[in-house]
Amino acid sequence: MTAMSSSFPASAMGACRVLVAEDDPTLQEEYRLAFTATTLAASAQEYRSLESDLFGSTTSAGVSGQMNFDLTICSQGEEAVHAMRVAAEAGRPYSVAFVDVRMPPGMDGITAAERMIDIDRSLNAVIVTGYSDIPRQEIHRRLGKGNFFYFQKPFLGDEFMQLAWALHRKREAERELQNSNVRLHEEVNRRTSELVIAVKRARAASQAKTDFLANMSHELRTPLNAIIGFSDMIGCQLIGPIGNARYVEYALDINGSAQHLLSIINDILDFSKIEAGEMQLQEDVMNVSHVISFCLRLVQHRATQGDIKLCSSVADGVPLIRGDERKIKQTLLNLVSNSVKFTPAGGSVSVTAAVRDGGLDIAVTDTGIGMSPDEMAHALEPFGQVDNSLSRKHDGTGLGLPLASALAELHGGSLSVQSEAGKGTTVTVRLPAERLL
Ligand SMILES: Nc1ncnc2c1ncn2[C@@H]1O[C@H](COP(=O)(O)OP(=O)(O)OP(=O)(O)O)[C@@H](O)[C@H]1O
Ligand SMILES: [Mg+2]
Repeated sequence: MTAMSSSFPASAMGACRVLVAEDDPTLQEEYRLAFTATTLAASAQEYRSLESDLFGSTTSAGVSGQMNFDLTICSQGEEAVHAMRVAAEAGRPYSVAFVDVRMPPGMDGITAAERMIDIDRSLNAVIVTGYSDIPRQEIHRRLGKGNFFYFQKPFLGDEFMQLAWALHRKREAERELQNSNVRLHEEVNRRTSELVIAVKRARAASQAKTDFLANMSHELRTPLNAIIGFSDMIGCQLIGPIGNARYVEYALDINGSAQHLLSIINDILDFSKIEAGEMQLQEDVMNVSHVISFCLRLVQHRATQGDIKLCSSVADGVPLIRGDERKIKQTLLNLVSNSVKFTPAGGSVSVTAAVRDGGLDIAVTDTGIGMSPDEMAHALEPFGQVDNSLSRKHDGTGLGLPLASALAELHGGSLSVQSEAGKGTTVTVRLPAERLL
């Protein structure tokens, strides 16, 4: 027994390899006829309707003139299984196998199909039955792991040709899909490792920035403390009087400027610590009224100078809160000093505290210059100042609001800004219920 192979003119790529296991010479002839070039051309049109049924499309490029088959006919099951193995090993698998159920005296078609599917799981096996001794359930059990189809005898060779091409295209599409999946998977892996490297680099850069800022702050703070200490001593004439009164004034100016510089350095350091996730809270219990009075006292002098009225009100029943007192004070102080800074003479600044929806709202409201929606978004950015021209009236670095927001978040809370240009601003710090005692 030898396998007969008839190859039709075809571009090697995309040809549909068909394996037939059929012992009846008349039917073998039917297969051969169906897969000849002349039959193919005539059937191209009919094929469209089948393809449309199978794939819901009739615009395929694979139709007419491009249907290429490579047909192998075997008379026995063993022979077909052997041909299947050889083809798989050569890397030229069959797309479709038509297998007759009964091929005495040798291996029956179901067993042959079962072995073929074992060799190539993506094979489309078409079981051609007249009648079968083997019950359907058993066929399903044995072939269910692969793609298998039934075809009832008697048949028209053309139907096989159409079915073979449709199944071949389905298999090609599946293979392309699989290749795309592999490529996609590789691409995802490549991108993921690029991302991991980028994240590592970003972390290293961020760490370097934090280290640099911490070192610089330390280097700057040490001489600043000397400047602050000695200018204070000179200004207060601690160890003896100064001849010229203007020197006293200058010494106090030096002291004020140095203190300002120190507070900027501290802000930058705090901010970079929070960004790096290194800021720790020193938790304590505090009274909200005391915290508010403390902050207002600190800005009282500036408010009086600017003719701004300060007031506060804490609603009845506001409980003690748990948090980092220094940082809560810093948060409120940033907001209150903004309000005093951005409110013209004759205006007012008020601080209120009240429990709302289980959490605590501390709101700082002013009747100052206010902000437009765009300006508000900008104001919350680090170093974001609405007026960042050199000629701006107000000093500062633009870290107060973002720092206040980050400190509120560190407490599990949030900061929100409501403002209207020319009318005034309310900035609210919200602390979550779990911070209330
Ligand atoms: N109460 C307010 N009224 C009007 N504008 C405000 C108010 N608070 C903040 N802003 C605007 O938001 C900007 C950012 O505020 P932020 O407190 O971050 O910086 P700053 O006050 O300019 O400087 P710093 O607080 O670092 O000394 C301010 O420059 C100002 O333009
Ligand atoms: Mg500020």
